[in-house]
Amino acid sequence: MSDWSQGYPTDTSYIDNAQAEIAPARWNRSLLLVKRQGPATNRPFRFLELGCGSATTLIALAACYPQAEFLGVDFMPEHVVRARQLIDEAELSNVRVEERDFAEMAVDPPAERFDFAAAHGVWTWVDPAVQAQIVSVLNQWLAPGALAYFGYNSAAGWSAAAPLRRIFRAAPRGPAEQRFAPARQAVERWFDLRGTESPALRRLWKKLSEASDEFLSHELGSTNGTGIWPEDLGQTLSGAKMSYACPAVLVEGLDALFLEDDEVAWLREAVGQGWGETARDLMHARTFRNDLFHRGAPLLQGGEGMSRLLTTRVAAWSPEFGFGTHNVPKERMTRHLDPSVLRSIQGAAGTEGRPLAEVLSTLGLDAQAGLQSGLMALAANALIDLRPQAEAEAAVDSCARFNRVVRKRIETDGALIQCLASPAIGGCVTLGSARLQDHLTDETPDAQVAERLAVLGIQPD
Ligand SMILES: C[S@@+](CC[C@H](N)C(=O)[O-])C[C@H]1O[C@@H](n2cnc3c(N)ncnc32)[C@H](O)[C@@H]1O
Repeated sequence: MSDWSQGYPTDTSYIDNAQAEIAPARWNRSLLLVKRQGPATNRPFRFLELGCGSATTLIALAACYPQAEFLGVDFMPEHVVRARQLIDEAELSNVRVEERDFAEMAVDPPAERFDFAAAHGVWTWVDPAVQAQIVSVLNQWLAPGALAYFGYNSAAGWSAAAPLRRIFRAAPRGPAEQRFAPARQAVERWFDLRGTESPALRRLWKKLSEASDEFLSHELGSTNGTGIWPEDLGQTLSGAKMSYACPAVLVEGLDALFLEDDEVAWLREAVGQGWGETARDLMHARTFRNDLFHRGAPLLQGGEGMSRLLTTRVAAWSPEFGFGTHNVPKERMTRHLDPSVLRSIQGAAGTEGRPLAEVLSTLGLDAQAGLQSGLMALAANALIDLRPQAEAEAAVDSCARFNRVVRKRIETDGALIQCLASPAIGGCVTLGSARLQDHLTDETPDAQVAERLAVLGIQPD
């Protein structure tokens, strides 16, 4: 480990990753549920990413919002080199990536402050001194009314993982290409000896064991990396005049769709007592959270939040083919989803996109029941939320340039940029599905995949 690392594992570069949860227009919609207004995304704005890695998400976002200005900062030179190469290839002039650390940023605030910030996979992976630098950066770099996103490990799901983290730090390292092999074997043997104990920890390990050594060096092999409680993060961020707003993904704010009635009652009590987010994490056994914090975002009056939400354009969608458009915690979906209502909603929405209010008005339900069905359809991925048409159209060319590079990279050396840029949703779509990847490179296009991409505003090249 080198001395500029400040405790961060810099001996391997981080995997290229993309995060669909980072999407400013969608953040603003999530914010409507808590009656707050985020910075406008239909005119020029400034977006900052802290610890952007090779900046795939940031660069895709720059393609989605060509009128805005994007800056990514990361202290690992390899990440910066990779990011700049992608920016050049996609011919984007509204995004820069700089090699700096947070301490340097904290003593060099910009002339013009930023409207949005994102830090995914950073906070719980750095030590408290570096966290304090991040707070100082946010305090000096963010404008009044700004919105900041944090993607971080949650204590509710991670607290049981202490034995795994201990084994990964204590077991000897293997040869370079298999450096966690002894730790992986030790964990497997430990589970064998413990019979059927700790089912939740086993599930977490099953997921982690499929990840690469590079990923595990951050999650398990590092001194930092364990989870925190959201209220504790909120307390620390108050040093940057920031307050907790809501989950970044709209449907994650809709607990009543995912929990049983007695669970909702317990959660409401905790909300009333001021520890609702911790209770929510415990109820969902969360290992990761995607949260928004705001720096004085204005409050909306009366039913303004809901009426703005109802103007959202929606189109028929389905989770088939594994398009990563947003993270839906649907395993816990407990409310009755009437398939015929879902079909009517999808039929009314069509593939072009129509305001949610118009779609719901075709159902013949009262306003409350209609809204509940519409939100359930969004949560179940039967609908997808889209940007206003004019904003999507303004981003078609820049997204096409980004997506052309993605195709070229898959064709030339199999190297994969993990996402496509969607002008229609104003965010990235992760490339988890093999069918989607094949479609991008095969001579004969897959007609169903092409139809889905058209909904996302992604046209064939
Ligand atoms: C786990 S990675 C996440 C990368 C990216 N945000 C993503 O989600 O794919 C954390 C990133 O933070 C960067 N980082 C860690 N400590 C830093 C510091 N003190 N200053 C600047 N960047 C830092 C690392 O180089 C790394 O790219």
